[in-house]
Formats: sequence, structure tokens, C-alpha cells
Amino acid sequence: MYTRTLLSQSPEETHRLGIEVGKSLDAGDLVALTGELGSGKTCLIQGIAVGLDILNPKQVTSPTFTLINEYQGRVPIYHFDLYRINKLEELFDLGFEEYFYGNGVTLVEWAEKILDWLPPQRLSVYIKILSERQREIQLSTSQAKFERLFQSL
Ligand SMILES: Nc1ncnc2c1ncn2[C@@H]1O[C@H](COP(=O)(O)OP(=O)(O)O)[C@@H](O)[C@H]1O
Ligand SMILES: [Mg+2]
Repeated sequence: MYTRTLLSQSPEETHRLGIEVGKSLDAGDLVALTGELGSGKTCLIQGIAVGLDILNPKQVTSPTFTLINEYQGRVPIYHFDLYRINKLEELFDLGFEEYFYGNGVTLVEWAEKILDWLPPQRLSVYIKILSERQREIQLSTSQAKFERLFQSL
């Protein structure tokens, strides 16, 4: 298991971290984000999308009325926000495996809600609010491919 714990002092810093994470992602990867409302999951994902060369970064917002948004970067980007998910069936109805094990990068907010259904091969991100602008961001994974990213942060 590789783990890295960082301190972010601003949304910009979290966004920059996201860019570095995004650069290290390839088709088939999944990032599972956990952290309370307003902790910065979407902020980090906006950076990740930039790191994945998204054409229009402004389109990255938490899907409010749907569970998933899709963007085009150098690979397809599937952005799940499970805040409003009520039953696991809603996830099954989406055909989530097509996304999780597909040809794009999957980014999941509120990943803890579907822990049992997440692929074991994933990058997990836990964000903790320390103060108005301070966040503790912990990255962990069992995938050796992220070793270089972890060392560079
Ligand atoms: N260090 C920080 N990193 C990320 N967001 C921060 C930070 N400090 C303050 N914020 C603010 O916290 C909020 C995070 O919102 P958002 O990314 O939508 O959270 P979530 O998706 O987890 O609900 C934004 O308003 C952002 O400006
Ligand atoms: Mg969000």
C-alpha cells in the first residue's frame, strides 16, 4: 500500500494537486473520493480533468440531478457524484461496471457509499476539513503505477 498525506492551504493548491494526479491517470483508472460536503472533492476533480487535457474545464461541476457527468479529455472522463444516491440499485441501473471497467477514467465523489462495489485497483482520496481554507488530503493505493506520482508530491 502506498500512502501520501498532504496539506492544502487553498482551493488553488488543491486544484494544482488535481492536475498532477490527472497527468498520472490512464484509461481504466478509477479515483475514489471521500470527504464531507464542501471539503473539496469537486475542486480536486476539476484539477484532475485539466491534467487529463479536458477541452472545456468549466463544464466540470458536481452532477446535481444525475449521478454521472461525462467529459472528453485525452480519454473519456466519467464523473460520478453519489451524494444523492438512495439505493444501490440506482448504481446498477446505470450499468456502472461499463464505466468502472471501461475505456475511460472514472472519478467518484462519495465513494464510501459504494465501497463494496469499487474495484480494488483504485486511487483513494480522503479529504478532511481542518479549517476554512486548510484541507488534509490523503492519497492511498495498492497500484505501483502511482509510486512516481506519490514521490513527486
Ligand atoms: N484548501 C482548499 N481546497 C479545496 N477547497 C477549498 C479549500 N479551501 C477552501 N475551499 C473551498 O471549499 C469548497 C469546496 O467545494 P467543493 O469542491 O464543491 O467540495 P465537495 O465537492 O467536496 O462538496 C469551495 O468553495 C472551495 O473554494
Ligand atoms: Mg462535489
